[in-house]
Amino acid sequence: MSNPSILILPGDGIGPEVMAEVKKVITWYGAKRDLQFDVSDDLVGGAAYDAHGTPLHDDTMAKAQEVDAVLLGAVGGPKYDALDFSVKPERGLLRLRKEMDLFSNLRPAQCFDALADFSSLKKDVVAGLDIMIVRELTSGIYFGEPRGIIEEGNERVGINTQRYTESEIDRVARSAFELAMRRGKKLCSMEKANVMESGILWREVVTEVAKDYPEVELSHMYADAGAMQLCRWPKQFDVIVTDNLFGDLLSDAAAMLTGSLGMLPSASLGAPMGNGRPKALYEPVHGSAPDIAGQGKANPIACVLSFAMALRYSFDLGEEADRLEKAVEKVLADGVRTADLLGEEGVTPVTTSEMGDAILNALDASL
Ligand code: NAD
Ligand code: IPM
Ligand code: MN
Repeated sequence: MSNPSILILPGDGIGPEVMAEVKKVITWYGAKRDLQFDVSDDLVGGAAYDAHGTPLHDDTMAKAQEVDAVLLGAVGGPKYDALDFSVKPERGLLRLRKEMDLFSNLRPAQCFDALADFSSLKKDVVAGLDIMIVRELTSGIYFGEPRGIIEEGNERVGINTQRYTESEIDRVARSAFELAMRRGKKLCSMEKANVMESGILWREVVTEVAKDYPEVELSHMYADAGAMQLCRWPKQFDVIVTDNLFGDLLSDAAAMLTGSLGMLPSASLGAPMGNGRPKALYEPVHGSAPDIAGQGKANPIACVLSFAMALRYSFDLGEEADRLEKAVEKVLADGVRTADLLGEEGVTPVTTSEMGDAILNALDASL
């Protein structure tokens, strides 16, 4: 049997810096666990625009469709701000999500004990936190038609459309119920059924799907109240399912419960392929962080934990995923900190690459 294949798309800004640490981890698994992956590299975002005049070359799109998993760093940056909207770096990422049909975006927010003091919220609010946000990723206002900027009378109008079909809601809801079954059996669905028809339909469909999962306790919340509850008492949640835009906002907010945006991984999953595994793309939730790019300050943990999710969801290597997550936990418990995680007095931050090395040492210690 051939080795599992991975396409690495480091992207822009800190993307290549954090991905370099993931490559070290992949090499470690080859050398120390005899797990071989066929890894290839390509361009996305601004890097692809610079080389090809497009944020995602058709050949790269075709490769992404064929591999077992795509790992992406981050896209975007001020250098590309003035580009036409159609070729902006972010369009490359959105094309990958849409054409691979990655409708279920898993964004876990877990507070490592060693960082509980570091969150901007009180320690007892975040200590032991372990929640999962499931964000719909291929529809909603990100992709709805009509869209554009049009002339109307003597002014311009910006238009985007929130649009969800029943089947789009059904499939993401099912993926969230399935996850809830494997976790704490609690699911909270968030929309704004008080002001949006798409929210009314969302609530109806999720309630219907719940009949197939009688063991899961389902609740509904308006997304604005959900944002408040996430800050007030996040441990009331187990799995949250929500639409594309609300999920974007709520997951950034959840990131701060864990201490830093540099900690939060994600998995974007589609329908199962021939081998029974879902089409999948793994990426940190953070962006290209132009303010710290090129300085060796980026925290690679979100990207490393995204690879752990790949081990679990694409390669059926749950125990190896646990090993990697425990290695990260150990490094944090040992007090190793990149600059974004500095709260304590007198701690000198490590560089991106030193954090990667510390994770490799912890992996060695796990053998
Ligand atoms: P950002 O996530 O890049 O940065 C927000 C803040 O968090 C910055 O202060 C940054 O320094 C810090 N930060 C982020 N990741 C970090 C890490 N790993 N280690 C330490 N600090 C980290 O968000 P932004 O500034 O709003 O966006 C910058 C660019 O990235 C934009 O072009 C945006 O469109 C793009 N973006 C891309 C993705 C993606 O590729 N998935 C996600 C979000 C934003
Ligand atoms: C994210 C990002 C993206 C989004 C951008 C870069 C297209 O913010 O992955 O959360 O809005 O989905
Ligand atoms: Mn976002």
